[in-house]
Amino acid sequence: MSQNSRKIVIAIDGFSSCGKSTFAKAIAARLGYIFIDTGAMYRAVTLYALEHGAVVDGEVLSDKVVELLPQIEISFSFNSERGASDIYINGEQVEQKIRSIEVSNLVSKISSIAQVREKLVAMQQGMGQQRGVVMDGRDIGTVVFPDAELKIFMTADPKVRAQRRYDELTAKGDNVTMEEILENVLSRDHADMNREISPLRQADDAIVLDNSHMSVEEQMAWFMERYEAIISC
Ligand code: DC
Repeated sequence: MSQNSRKIVIAIDGFSSCGKSTFAKAIAARLGYIFIDTGAMYRAVTLYALEHGAVVDGEVLSDKVVELLPQIEISFSFNSERGASDIYINGEQVEQKIRSIEVSNLVSKISSIAQVREKLVAMQQGMGQQRGVVMDGRDIGTVVFPDAELKIFMTADPKVRAQRRYDELTAKGDNVTMEEILENVLSRDHADMNREISPLRQADDAIVLDNSHMSVEEQMAWFMERYEAIISC
């Protein structure tokens, strides 16, 4: 196989609102790889749970979520205008709905349910079977693809991350405050790192990228150097 046709799995894990998706999307476009946003999948299950009575007074009813799981079919379809795939639940496009603060506040709880993770991890492994994917999440390099050829662990200052999410949400017209966003970022970091199943942690063989003060172009240059080194081996 020639060097250029050799396809690998690129696992991008890290804290929330680090720009993982933006970075992963840019890499996938550059390499002609498929980009898979696994956070969107956990958000989709959360949205479905919210809309189907599995959240009562802000409390997640785990048994009810598990009961709903067989009814949830998640799919992606490429949106050429956005240059990325939109996510669908049972045929409904929910790309915007899954980004609401309500979903963000509940997603850590939903993603800590073992059966939810089992279902989504199996789907993700199927999607990456042919290699040639850039997958971003929390457990890609540790659980989903421990054999990924290139693993990146992204991090950034929590205040920088909160500002990024605030800008994103207010640009969409959401009425949010910096305080609630920072609180959400910090509480999700805590929940992601401390949950029992597949907690967020850096794989031993992952390379750390702290992008607090890096532009997308600088991150791409950083990435290409590492990618070329691996692909030329
Ligand atoms: O990347 P994101 O912020 O959209 O992810 C939403 C939530 O989903 C996040 O709080 C943790 C969870 N998640 C996970 O547990 N495992 C993944 N592979 C991806 C996301």
